[in-house]
Amino acid sequence: MKKILFFASGSGSNVENIINYFQKKSITIDYKVICNKAEAGIYDRCERLEIPIHHFSKQEMETLAFEQYIVDFAPDLIVLAGFLLKFPEKIIKKFPEKIINIHPALLPKYGGKGMYGMHVHRAVLENKESKTGITIHFVNENYDEGKIILQKDTNIEGILSAEEIAQKVHALEYHYFPIVIEQLLFPDNSNV
Ligand code: GRF
Repeated sequence: MKKILFFASGSGSNVENIINYFQKKSITIDYKVICNKAEAGIYDRCERLEIPIHHFSKQEMETLAFEQYIVDFAPDLIVLAGFLLKFPEKIIKKFPEKIINIHPALLPKYGGKGMYGMHVHRAVLENKESKTGITIHFVNENYDEGKIILQKDTNIEGILSAEEIAQKVHALEYHYFPIVIEQLLFPDNSNV
């Protein structure tokens, strides 16, 4: 059975969407979630979905216990879904090309430290961009700079609010993130 380790700091709607996607296809995956925030919405979600979730603070992520937790689980893929901290370098070194992130814009535009969530969508709106989108990429030592796996764009001409942009971007995330994960986990499966 394949194993996915999620990292999330927020509501976890992408995590739930990915779990639902594999469930609908009757593909059983062993999941664990790591969250760095004490009161994130993802705890309730994990309880409802019966997925184990473990809290590690930013400081705890520097410890050997954190590293050991990941090594013991031995994930096939580490998926960052709304994880807002810089990912620990020693884990990147241990799991080369096995850590992916989704960014809610067309990188390299609107990436880097502080560029997350509504900050991204507001900046896109202010700059009167005609399109925005998603970038799914491998994680390396620098924020939002790893090798790009997939980008998809959406037209936002005439859109007047950052919330509406967020909705369009979320729709892309929900559609494409599970597909990319499936392709990475099962590269030989031509039905994907
Ligand atoms: C998503 O928009 C994702 O692109 C970004 O953080 C957000 C997470 O949302 N990295 P959710 O917690 O999955 O609802």
